[in-house]
Amino acid sequence: MSVLRSQIIGCGAFLPRNVLTNTDLAKRVDTNDEWIVARTGIHRRHIAAEGEKTSDLAFEAATDAMRHAGIGADALDLIVVATTTPDETFPAVATAIQARLGMTRGAAFDVQAVCSGFIFALSVADNFIRAGQAKTVLVIGAETMSRLMDWSDRTTCVLFGDGAGAVVLRAGEGKGGNADRGVLNTKLFSDGRLHDLLYVDGGPSTTGTTGYLRMQGREVFKHAVTNIAAAIQASADEAGIAISEIDWFVPHQANQRILDGTARKLGIDPAKVVSTVADHGNTSAASVPLALATAVADGRIKPGQLVLLEAMGGGLTWGSALIRW
Ligand code: ACO
Repeated sequence: MSVLRSQIIGCGAFLPRNVLTNTDLAKRVDTNDEWIVARTGIHRRHIAAEGEKTSDLAFEAATDAMRHAGIGADALDLIVVATTTPDETFPAVATAIQARLGMTRGAAFDVQAVCSGFIFALSVADNFIRAGQAKTVLVIGAETMSRLMDWSDRTTCVLFGDGAGAVVLRAGEGKGGNADRGVLNTKLFSDGRLHDLLYVDGGPSTTGTTGYLRMQGREVFKHAVTNIAAAIQASADEAGIAISEIDWFVPHQANQRILDGTARKLGIDPAKVVSTVADHGNTSAASVPLALATAVADGRIKPGQLVLLEAMGGGLTWGSALIRW
């Protein structure tokens, strides 16, 4: 039986020029490079310049992915942007990208699942393709998390940064088994009861302000390792493969200790885990496609290999995507 599969034909990435090091941060709050590196693995983060918007970062990552895929805007049927830091409360960042690309047909919308946003957006796009409703889809994760930081709160401001990553998905044919090339499955989860662990204390219908990110770091950490491990297992089980058969793990880049803890829990060889957190910190929905673009560009991820993407974020939300490259 022939089935439609979403195949990734291009990856792109963009980080703003301004770099904020741990030493720079130590001049603003009571922290130091040793603490940040030991507890998080983060060395630096990129911060959007004044006036540089989420859509500006998204546009750069999108054009990079489209160049890589060798397609123009006329080929796109759909744009899905994952972001929790849109330029404006509405309209969506995706429609800003649509206009800037000169795409005059199809549809564009945003998805909001915070740090899991890219996995959720990829899942939405994959379902559009499987249903035959779109052939070529641009999926972007883009964030300016620096705009949500309380820069006097050392427990959060050292963790986050700005950036964008993107992929182009195209419909291809498969046989329906796990040897097919493309997205084999996506698994999405959420538990709204865990709101208080990670949220922003503002919004259009509450304070009328943007608000600042608030987090119970230790609790989030525990849920992250448990939930991400469960999502990876769910993807592997559904595809009928062992976790040891997966060639590359591309996690949400929140904290090196979460990456290490999850790998330990599942017996994953740390050499198979792509880590870029040192260079950009937690860029929320941008971090999975940023790490993916890095591992594709440097030749680690090769055609035919199994790649597992995963993330957890505010909501709480979490999920995974298993892809045959
Ligand atoms: N510099 C120096 N000291 C600090 C800093 C800092 N930036 N931040 C906190 N401390 C202090 C605390 O005040 C505390 O001091 P005390 O013992 O005198 O009270 C001490 O360090 C230990 O604090 P903890 O919060 O217990 O430290 P922990 O080892 O849990 O590390 C961290 C904190 C890094 C936030 C960790 O809990 C974490 O990474 N949690 C996950 C959070 C995360 O990644 N969130 C992102 C969104 S969700 C996601 O993406 C998965």
